[in-house]
Amino acid sequence: MAGLIDKALVPVAGRGTRLLPATKAQPKEMLPVGGKPVVQHVVEELAHAGVRDLLFVTARGKGSIEDHFEPDPDLIEALRKSGKQDLVPSVDASQLVPNVYYTRQPVPRGLGDAIQHGRAFVGNEPFIVALGDSIIGLRGGATATRRTARVFVEWGADAAVAVEEVRPDQVASYGIVRPMAVGEVFRVATIVEKPEPKAAPSRLAVAGRYIFSPTIFQALQDVRPDANGEIQLTDAIRSIAEGGGKVIGVRLRRGEERYDIGNLRSYYETFFRFALADAEHGSRLRAYLRSHMTDRSG
Ligand code: UTP
Repeated sequence: MAGLIDKALVPVAGRGTRLLPATKAQPKEMLPVGGKPVVQHVVEELAHAGVRDLLFVTARGKGSIEDHFEPDPDLIEALRKSGKQDLVPSVDASQLVPNVYYTRQPVPRGLGDAIQHGRAFVGNEPFIVALGDSIIGLRGGATATRRTARVFVEWGADAAVAVEEVRPDQVASYGIVRPMAVGEVFRVATIVEKPEPKAAPSRLAVAGRYIFSPTIFQALQDVRPDANGEIQLTDAIRSIAEGGGKVIGVRLRRGEERYDIGNLRSYYETFFRFALADAEHGSRLRAYLRSHMTDRSG
């Protein structure tokens, strides 16, 4: 299906330190959720939203992502020969998006720096950024991405960000926006990275999906590295919003929850939500978990 925005960047170059040692020799974006790697959920969402050109911003040690999205005729042949034909569609993730490219971020200097590596790929067009460690919705987030893209176009925005209401104890983990109005779609006055709950301008957290015009690159160029030497995307969005640019927030709807697998607690929660929703295994897993709920030994 044709989309409003043809190009997408998927940054997958972070170190995943919060998931060590699981991520010492494998990317966090390749951890399984619902029987497939997290990043495949992201690419399926983008494919359904009509993306035609996708650039992964990758890094050393992330080669399995490239392997996963590369055609593997030997494996397909072996499956056919051994009567496992039914598995063939599930192993061909290379067909999802017509054109897939890779570039490297040599040092993980933050999400803002990762996006700067997509500048030549993007050229003068608007583009989607979809974080490789976040899934939207148990059944794919294409509508959320499409809706955010539509808002971006209709408002003639510089940036549109999907946002999700989080619990007060969660605001310190995300970029939090200050909306100029209430509603599902609103202009953003500013954005604060990981505020203390008391100082938070709202409970609306950026949810890992963004649409940008190329003006974001100028803003990123002007961002100073933070105390850890990282270029924060939030800083660039804030400078656009506070400088009079049009940054629009789009609230995720029910059924479009963001599943971020960046720490062990959220990975466990995401893993179980998808496992419980599994058509084949969900109900037995539910019974299994119930039988262990009262058993304190685990
Ligand atoms: P995170 O900040 O959650 O990822 O970035 P991280 O840096 O891997 O996490 P920790 O703190 O070390 O555990 C969200 C997304 O942005 C990518 C990550 O790969 C992830 O998909 N990212 C982050 C980059 O591509 N480059 C970076 O420098 C940082």
